[in-house]
Amino acid sequence: MEFEDVIKGRFSARKFKDDMISDDLINKILEAGNLAPTAKNNQPQKIYIVKSKEGLNKIDKASPCRYNAPVCLIVASDKNIAWSKENYSTYEMDACIVATHMMLEATNIGIDNIWVESLIKIL
Ligand SMILES: Cc1cc2nc3c(=O)[nH]c(=O)nc-3n(C[C@H](O)[C@H](O)[C@H](O)COP(=O)(O)O)c2cc1C
Repeated sequence: MEFEDVIKGRFSARKFKDDMISDDLINKILEAGNLAPTAKNNQPQKIYIVKSKEGLNKIDKASPCRYNAPVCLIVASDKNIAWSKENYSTYEMDACIVATHMMLEATNIGIDNIWVESLIKIL
């Protein structure tokens, strides 16, 4: 797609089909995240791909906003890896940029998506 079509075409999808997304397409989305800029290129992000029934059920317990999406990418960020100075760290900023890149690539390859805010404690 043309870049302008991608940014104009992206929207928050709140209804998804059950169809699974191929690993090839998921990898394309992940690659777009890897290409995103992060402070000092420290790449503090860790992306968890959730597509098992068990994993999706856990997400549904944490948020009402999965909207039946068959695949969720949880974008985590490690404060110990991100660039930081005194009490300031770019870990959230870095993760947000990575997530945005991935959303735009998903739109580019025809996969509807939505950013959902959720506080999930992984560790
Ligand atoms: C940081 C952030 C958190 C969001 N959290 C949720 C959410 O929990 N549930 C939801 O349905 N939409 C969520 N959204 C989607 C926004 O509501 C949506 O992007 C906004 O209304 C603009 O609509 P659009 O994405 O279709 O342009 C979130 C978006 C952002 C950027």
